[in-house]
Amino acid sequence: MTNRWIPISQPTLLGNEKKYVMDAVESGWISSIGPYIDKFESAFAAYHGVKHAIATHNGTIALHLALAAMGIDEGDEVIVPDLTFIATANSVRYCHATPILTDVSLNDWNISPDAIREAISPRTRAIIPVHLYGNPAAMNEIMEIAEQHHLVVIEDCAEAIGAEYYGKKAGTFGHINCFSFFGNKIITTGEGGMCITNDDALAERMRVLRDHGMNRKKKYWYDELGFNYRMTNLQAAVGFAQMEQLEELITRRDDIYREYCQALSSHGGIKMQEVNKQRSVNWLFTVRIKGMNYELRDQVTARLKLMGIDSRPVFYPISMMSFYKDSCYLGGELVNSSLISLEGISLPTYVGLSKEDISYICVSLLSCLKEVGL
Ligand SMILES: Cc1ncc(COP(=O)(O)O)c(C=O)c1O
Repeated sequence: MTNRWIPISQPTLLGNEKKYVMDAVESGWISSIGPYIDKFESAFAAYHGVKHAIATHNGTIALHLALAAMGIDEGDEVIVPDLTFIATANSVRYCHATPILTDVSLNDWNISPDAIREAISPRTRAIIPVHLYGNPAAMNEIMEIAEQHHLVVIEDCAEAIGAEYYGKKAGTFGHINCFSFFGNKIITTGEGGMCITNDDALAERMRVLRDHGMNRKKKYWYDELGFNYRMTNLQAAVGFAQMEQLEELITRRDDIYREYCQALSSHGGIKMQEVNKQRSVNWLFTVRIKGMNYELRDQVTARLKLMGIDSRPVFYPISMMSFYKDSCYLGGELVNSSLISLEGISLPTYVGLSKEDISYICVSLLSCLKEVGL
């Protein structure tokens, strides 16, 4: 047992976060009206070169807001990857629509364009590609499929702010694209989310639905059922300070990625996500280990814990969850999502991680793998 503890993730709050939050507190604007909301939304839109950014209380409801604004409803089908955080599929269910769980590619671990083609039915209305662990999905191909079949696309960029696909930022391909600022994300607001779009009408729909459906010209008049999905000025104060450091934060994550790859290169059975002509932002450094299974991974995780190192399993396929098993039908065989889930493990990834920490984590992991025969 050691006193050392390396968490899986921790936020970096080294800029103006405290100053801006104190400013918000002292001004009295602590709820969902206040200057930092506009500042954060404007900075976010400018960073992505889009017209509109709509801040929300978290990333899950950002996805729901986007789907609701697009009118996704009962009887509609939405294609989502089987390997993702549960919120991607849940947001579809919140609209009473059916998520169609679709397999991912073994190379980049993201939704497979071929599997999307197979899963399309006359009821399909939308696709939600996820940029898993910060690695962009095959957006050119996905947008082509969507155009051919008149589908809308919502990129789930929760883990991928700043990622690029052929030089174009994740979040600038789909019709509305959603982000999360949970505490373990690349930038954080504690809890928080954002929807971005270039479509004026969709942006207006989201602003109305975010605020209980209140008529924008007539206060306290409601034409439809809406939600309270607003972000607070306090969250936005943190977010605005985080935006000022974004490039620096991503660059350090790039270094961490390289340091991990180098330190693990001696093990022939370790595989990373393939990053083609893209910029992955290394949200969570995650590898597949040949021969790994759930039982061995539990053993490795427990051993790492004794050495003071936190780790995390790759997401379990959503199709394994009991409440998704029977109630949505599956687009094709979900072989790859199962394999990646079985073999995958995420290692600590955050800006405060030192080169020595990474070296210690890798030496420890390699010795644990040896002990379990991998
Ligand atoms: C892929 C993905 N989608 C959606 C979410 C939901 O975001 P939040 O936790 O802010 O609700 C997350 C993260 O937590 C995520 O990783």
